[in-house]
Amino acid sequence: MNTNIITEKFSSLFGKEYYLYTSPGRINLIGEHTDYNGGFVFPGAIDKGIYAAVYPNNTDKVRVFSVDYNENAQFGTEENDIPSLSWAKYIFGVVREIKKKGLEVKGFDAVFAGDVPLGAGMSSSAALESCFAYALNDMFALGLDKLLLAYIGQATEHNYCGVKCGIMDQFASVFGKKNSLIRLNCATMEYEYFPFNPQGYKLVLLDTCVKHELASSAYNKRRESCERVCAEIRARNPQVVFLSDATMPMLEEVKDRISQEDYMRAQYVIGEKQRVLTVCDALERNDYDTVGKCMFETHNGMSKQYEVSCEELDFLNDIAKQEGVTGSRVMGGGFGGCTINLVKDNLYEAFIRTAKSQFKEKFAHEPKVYDVIISDGARKIK
Ligand code: GLA
Repeated sequence: MNTNIITEKFSSLFGKEYYLYTSPGRINLIGEHTDYNGGFVFPGAIDKGIYAAVYPNNTDKVRVFSVDYNENAQFGTEENDIPSLSWAKYIFGVVREIKKKGLEVKGFDAVFAGDVPLGAGMSSSAALESCFAYALNDMFALGLDKLLLAYIGQATEHNYCGVKCGIMDQFASVFGKKNSLIRLNCATMEYEYFPFNPQGYKLVLLDTCVKHELASSAYNKRRESCERVCAEIRARNPQVVFLSDATMPMLEEVKDRISQEDYMRAQYVIGEKQRVLTVCDALERNDYDTVGKCMFETHNGMSKQYEVSCEELDFLNDIAKQEGVTGSRVMGGGFGGCTINLVKDNLYEAFIRTAKSQFKEKFAHEPKVYDVIISDGARKIK
């Protein structure tokens, strides 16, 4: 992204001196709604993110301008200074979560903008949190390590933005590495980089451009379902800390004690854990057919068992199947946003053409198309 617009705005509003930081959005190859269940995820940072010019202002106030919203916010750093603009809550939350650790955050000025599409399931909010967490840590020499920066972003979502999210998005935004996906075990936080450059294939996102209302409350409800089932299973199997530790037979044992809905949610989560491991194994053999098959299975589980898909996403998934795409599924939290598609080079153009035209015929607008380029995580540019 051309950052001139940010730095020029910063100079005109606040002065000539600034640092420039960025943190990216993310994709996730497989392992969805597994992070808060102690399972595996397989994300990577992308070449789209949030960029911010930031500098201390020697006051006790934070003054921020959002280029994309063309709005200003100004707030103090105490708990009751919470701003009313929703984008400003993310920055305020990061400041608060750092201060809760007993560290000092002084006033600062900032101008930011982004090229990660909002509401598309590419984690624009994690990019924003991670960008400011990284910036404040660097600028005020707070000495927080990368994992703590990711936790600060996650706590911001929980405590200031109303989403009880897992750690995947913030982790990917902070730890991203060019050309590599990250397999993260969310129970132990152990992670491993997997070089990802599938020869003969493209990874492409198709954005439905729909974002269903109440997505946050529906997300939180899914998490509650998982916690209820986990508690039932744990009562009989104390070694089960997270739902991802459970097996299908353990789930069967408690079937009569939980609702049919919670049962389906848990079936999906337990199945998804195995799929991530199958995909990692297949990647080591360059077996993309198996990767793709697992992606389709995940879509099916997210649509029919976890019920976080929607008509538009299911439609794109059906087109992918019909066009012989290797793998396709809804990506991220769901309820709108993107499908992620693993497509053979020679099928790519026809797939995109058909997806655009058939989608437009049905929903009166085209999906947006983003080729995925796996890139580095949070960093200082200047
Ligand atoms: C959102 C959350 C993540 C994760 C995904 C689903 O992106 O922020 O923590 O739960 O949904 O995998």
